[in-house]
Amino acid sequence: MTTRHRVANVDEFTDDPDRVIREVDGLEVGVFFVDGEYYALANYCVHQGAPLCEGRVTGEMDVDENWEWEYDHDPCVVTCPWHEWKFDLETGVNVSDDRYVTPTFETAVEDDTVYVLR
Ligand code: FES
Repeated sequence: MTTRHRVANVDEFTDDPDRVIREVDGLEVGVFFVDGEYYALANYCVHQGAPLCEGRVTGEMDVDENWEWEYDHDPCVVTCPWHEWKFDLETGVNVSDDRYVTPTFETAVEDDTVYVLR
């Protein structure tokens, strides 16, 4: 059964991007505010267990169908602080190897309160 857990008030996110890290039902979860959206990921890197959500939030290199590379400046990945694996904030998928996936959680906002559903 999924339960809604209060994690923050919207005014705790003072920058864009910004994050809070909270314990949610026994698991540390990072909640990111990026470009008006909230994303929640387990604060645990599937490589060797680093606190993933303490990492930098940045854009990422992108390649089109003609193999032309371009830097996407929109913040969309979090980089693990230990060995710099990068994970998509929305899907939790490692951008270099999709066998590695960080658990993600739905978020909700109601009356200026941010919730994680878990
Ligand atoms: S522990 Fe995260 S990349 Fe190694």
